[in-house]
Amino acid sequence: MGLWATWASGRCPCPGPPWCFFPRGYRSYRAENVTATATGFTARLRRVAASFLPGDVGDLRLDVAMETPTRLRFTLRDPSRQRYEVPLATPRASGRAASALYGVRVSPDPFGLLVYRQRGGRVLLNTTVAPLFFADQFLQISTSLPSHFISGLGEHLTPLILDTTWTRVTLWNRDMAPPQVNLYGSHPFYLGMEDDGSAHGVFLLNSNAMDVLLQPSPALTWRTTGGILDFYVFLGPDPKSVVRQYLDVVGFPFMPPYWGLGFHLCRWGYSSTDITRQVVANMTAARFPLDVQWNDLDYADAKRDFTFNKKSFKDYPEMVQDFHRRGLRYIMIVDPGISSSGPPGTYKPYDEGLKRGVFIRNATGQPLIGKVWPGPTAFPDFTNPETHEWWHDMVKDFHDQVPFDGMWIDMNEPSNFVEGSQDGCPNNSLEQPPYVPGVFGGRLQGGTICASSQQYLSSHYNLHSLYGLTQAVASHDALLRVRGKRPFVISRSTFAGHGRYAGHWTGDVGSNWEQLYYSIPEVLLFNLFGVPLVGADICGFAGDTSEELCVRWTQLGAFYPFMRNHNDHGARPQEPYAFSPAAQAAMRKALCLRYSLLPFLYTLFHRAHSAGETVARPLFLEFPKDPNTWAVDRQLMWGGGLLVTPVLQPGTTKVSGYFPAGTWYSLAGVGAPLFDSTIRSKGQWILLPAPLDTINVHVRAGHILPLQEPAFSTAESRGKGMALVVALTPDGFARGELFWDDGESWQTFEKGDYTEILFLATHASAHLDGVLLEAVTVLGVTSPPRQVLANGALVGDFSYRNDTQVSAHLALGGFFFGGGAAGWQLGRDLGLSRGAGGVWPQRWPSTRFVGTQERKGLPSTGWVTVLGPGQD
Ligand code: NOJ
Repeated sequence: MGLWATWASGRCPCPGPPWCFFPRGYRSYRAENVTATATGFTARLRRVAASFLPGDVGDLRLDVAMETPTRLRFTLRDPSRQRYEVPLATPRASGRAASALYGVRVSPDPFGLLVYRQRGGRVLLNTTVAPLFFADQFLQISTSLPSHFISGLGEHLTPLILDTTWTRVTLWNRDMAPPQVNLYGSHPFYLGMEDDGSAHGVFLLNSNAMDVLLQPSPALTWRTTGGILDFYVFLGPDPKSVVRQYLDVVGFPFMPPYWGLGFHLCRWGYSSTDITRQVVANMTAARFPLDVQWNDLDYADAKRDFTFNKKSFKDYPEMVQDFHRRGLRYIMIVDPGISSSGPPGTYKPYDEGLKRGVFIRNATGQPLIGKVWPGPTAFPDFTNPETHEWWHDMVKDFHDQVPFDGMWIDMNEPSNFVEGSQDGCPNNSLEQPPYVPGVFGGRLQGGTICASSQQYLSSHYNLHSLYGLTQAVASHDALLRVRGKRPFVISRSTFAGHGRYAGHWTGDVGSNWEQLYYSIPEVLLFNLFGVPLVGADICGFAGDTSEELCVRWTQLGAFYPFMRNHNDHGARPQEPYAFSPAAQAAMRKALCLRYSLLPFLYTLFHRAHSAGETVARPLFLEFPKDPNTWAVDRQLMWGGGLLVTPVLQPGTTKVSGYFPAGTWYSLAGVGAPLFDSTIRSKGQWILLPAPLDTINVHVRAGHILPLQEPAFSTAESRGKGMALVVALTPDGFARGELFWDDGESWQTFEKGDYTEILFLATHASAHLDGVLLEAVTVLGVTSPPRQVLANGALVGDFSYRNDTQVSAHLALGGFFFGGGAAGWQLGRDLGLSRGAGGVWPQRWPSTRFVGTQERKGLPSTGWVTVLGPGQD
């Protein structure tokens, strides 16, 4: 009775405590024959009492692998039968890790597994808290949690820290405008903070529809509907290490092309090339930076992929070529659904696809036909290698006509406007499993295709949530083959490991203040998931935006790693030039700030790609020992050095932000002080002025940021001079780095075609290596410098701000660090001034940045020394 009650409770859509319990003393499995293996140990689990679940598996095999000192993997499988496993290539351990940070214990009867920290003994995972279930379509395992602070389990509209008071989180990818339900992606990974600021992570490698139930004790129950139980536990012990350890398993993020970090502009409703061209012209006329112009479905002929409307888009190829001539890039939407209704011979993607057998099949073995934008559509099966070849051929054919630069893959949950298929779905246990997780609408095939349709690797029931990922892989690979350069793919649907291939935008967010806020935790969570190239539709997608919202959203959006303004058809225009001069000035200023910071942002992407770091970062990643930071999700950091405090509410010119202990210099104060907001925090909330034209951005003492003169595109800005902001700690230390390459070649890092420069400032002396610098700003110089030296020689042209007494600004005007270089030309001022158009550089030196693309043979080290009174 107790067990049936448990089942029934799962159907209840209402949150709150379950109304059913396990019978007291209930045991499910007993562990026997615990035996050592090369990587850990194995055991046999035998069912003790019947579970009443259909397809109950009586005997299980437990394998525990101590893969690395910080990574433990354990799996529970049916030894008598090969069940579906997620086709994600994961690292294999050859032996048993020595000096592991964890210990593992098996509790034999009832079976349970305990994972604890070797040092201090804190239990991170304890599955003895509730019985294990392992039936064909119902697998459930519970664990205690060491604290209430857990983050992850996307994709949902949630704060950064999840609520453990009876919260059900459902994973089953779904085309759904963000409310509190299963959304576009599945990331069954969480990061838990422990009382002392240590962190651990848990990843369940399972792609079936599942619920994750959070309970106040605190505890967590995984309840999935297929596959096996395949867990990874990451020991950190700090949260950054947890993320890297997770990414060691699912893959480090891809390196985006430099232009991909510029500003992207899109809307549904740019209904012709004339209109699209006009948008670009308007952006230029209004002096807004723009790197990538996009088109939504409007370009396509009858909304069919790989076609274009020969009337309204008749000069489409020429338009894209024109954009290229202006230094812009171009991206268009590509949905996975392939129109199936035309007469044979009229639409190559479908004809070829049929011939090559690339479509997902229904119960009768025919392509399953659903309905998306073009009407009846078939769905490519991207788990089939032949589909990748076919997709490449279609991408190439189209690219031969229209030289696009990247792909926007949408509707790839996959979305379907009819339930299951045009002919419905069969009546079987995959369509109607005994337990349906809390998916929106209560049915697996709602908004998508039949669960029992057949794919190359398995049933759609198992593979559903991998659809977007597999399309992203195919698109990434096709673009690489076709363009020969670093691919740029933005996808709506995602799964664990997605960041290796593509980025993500957060779907159909509403144009409202609530969604402005939620975009921060979403961006931060996707960074924890290893998908750092992420952003929400700036100004909101659905519904009309307002001028104030759009200004604030553009300010925050300037700090999304992926920055795109995209709008729904029919909604009020929201391009930056669509607003009043004052609003435009504020947006221009935010864009300018982003473009100035792009070398820093690009370097962070390099760190993500090469070392598994995050780009946009929650504060707790940098300050895990300060519990005040754990739940902060109205602010975000870029790397470890920049703290962004946006306004998220209407009608206010103040914002309160948390500043962890230390010194924080306002970036607005560099060159154009709006106010002196250097903050010396003890770890406190601080109320900051935030007029409508301002987003608060602070540089953390101890960091050096590489900047570049902003321009109207990255094609232009990359040729401009660079500058450094050196934010000294009270004892005169700072460090930073720059990764620089040609911005778009494939695998420059892997091939060594790059320059990486480490900047170090010690005792107010900044050391630099192999870069042409035009300006250095040193923050935290507490009294006027007596002398400034560059490479030991006096610099005549420097300034010191007596008002704030914190910055020394050296205009180096073309100073090339390193032996044999041209030395420097002095006398040119690098100044930011506040004009009508916001903050624009007034007179930047025209000297170009050189010394790129070569790692070897770099000139020797250069340095800048700031000598204070009394120093020699
Ligand atoms: C849904 C996407 O989420 C949205 O961004 C797009 O504009 C529409 N599909 C139309 O393609």
